[in-house]
Amino acid sequence: MKKFYITTPVYYVNDVPHIGHTYTTVAADVLARWHRSSGEETFFLTGTDEHGAKIEAKARQLNLEPKQYADEIVEKFKQAWRELNISNDGFLRTTDEAHIKAVQKALQFMYDKGDIYLGKYEGLYCRGCEQYKNERDLIDGECSDHKIVPEKMSEECYNFKLSKYQDELLKKIKQDKLRILPVKRKNEMVSFYEKEGLVDVSFSRKNIKWGIPIPWDSSHTVYVWADAFLNYLTGLGWDGSTPLTRGAGGLDFWPAQVQLMSKDILRVHSTIWAAMLLSLELPLPEIIFIHGYFQINGQKMGKSLGNVIAPADLIKKYGVDATRYLIMSAAVFGHDGDISSQKFDEKYNADLANGLGNLVARVSNLLEKNNLEINLKIDSDKKLTKAYRENMENFKFDEALKLLWQNLRRADETLSATKPWKMQDHKAIKKILESIAQDILNAADLLKPFMPAVAEKIIAQFSVQQIKKGEALFPRI
Ligand code: MSP
Repeated sequence: MKKFYITTPVYYVNDVPHIGHTYTTVAADVLARWHRSSGEETFFLTGTDEHGAKIEAKARQLNLEPKQYADEIVEKFKQAWRELNISNDGFLRTTDEAHIKAVQKALQFMYDKGDIYLGKYEGLYCRGCEQYKNERDLIDGECSDHKIVPEKMSEECYNFKLSKYQDELLKKIKQDKLRILPVKRKNEMVSFYEKEGLVDVSFSRKNIKWGIPIPWDSSHTVYVWADAFLNYLTGLGWDGSTPLTRGAGGLDFWPAQVQLMSKDILRVHSTIWAAMLLSLELPLPEIIFIHGYFQINGQKMGKSLGNVIAPADLIKKYGVDATRYLIMSAAVFGHDGDISSQKFDEKYNADLANGLGNLVARVSNLLEKNNLEINLKIDSDKKLTKAYRENMENFKFDEALKLLWQNLRRADETLSATKPWKMQDHKAIKKILESIAQDILNAADLLKPFMPAVAEKIIAQFSVQQIKKGEALFPRI
């Protein structure tokens, strides 16, 4: 059976889940559901990134032990994904005992082969990024993402020979052996490799206690990114042994078909993560897909701006499936998007309350009133299914939705134009309603990855001979 493995980043626990994390996770869920329903053996992994200076500092601020603090936040992530009906098969915490052991084993392997060596690192360290920054990346001396002045750090550390993998990785990226999508992102990375190139990177920290001890020198902890990347393997049950052949050590699903994330972490993935895999003698993921970044009313989302949208707020207002729909249709997938509560309200009313919901109500009501018996079959619109499939395969989720809504709108127009409620001839009424009901059923079937519960509800409602009017799917706001 064909396998499909999809991952989201492991999210930092210094923040509660917001609409940005939700975007990635819902999109991954849509893909996972789509591949599962296409008969592929699917594994969908998400999780949390819990070590490092940032989390440690945050916990101390709250007078908590880092682990205790992380436990609380992790629950919030799990709860958010449960509420959103996310179908992840695994949830990896980087503080899991098995993950820690595997990370140590993997690093030992890299050390033994000479890819990790004792050295010194000097640079400007941004805690927000948990990365050393180049002077040229700073704006007025500050990290442009976190608006803080990075600290000068100089320490003895173990370095990873990232530079060793420059040529091999550049070649693989150019040849799409490591496919970075959209192509614009691939080009950015090729240009990064060609203009700046890979330099060795520190893989250990001496002054950070909240991390995984370096197995051969416990006065150091593992660099949080090196630790976090390996989640993609340990989340499958990998114990850190390498090299290995497929089928052994819980790595049945590696390499991933799709690793989903946004542009903020593209560079680290297509450099350090990819190089770690080469060092571990494991295959590279097939596709790294970079989706766009959400802004709210033209502004970066942030706690200090007080404009953070939490998934729970949306669910309370719109319901689970509507929230999933609104998020997935908010932007062209792969492009940045600007969202706002007003836009969500408008879209909810137009597409769901007055759109899909109203059409379902009108048609089922007319069928019930006229006491009509009809026979529908799922998947009778080959052309629609084909176009939809093409969009899904090319990560055009918003397009796939648009396509379904075009069809629903057309059905709605037919209903308004033909006015079967004014007609007397039962046969003619039946003909019109049957064809529109068929359109609804087809759309509902293809909507399953996006709106699993609503789709099933409509399918159940339209799969009987005597269709009855149900409760309103999307009450108007
Ligand atoms: N812990 C690291 C990732 C390690 S993966 C080995 C991390 N965590 S994070 O919590 O900051 O998550 C970043 C990711 O969350 C982004 O790449 C994206 O997937 C998602 N998003 C966070 N904010 C976002 C927006 N405003 N818009 C869209 N997605 C965003 O980085």
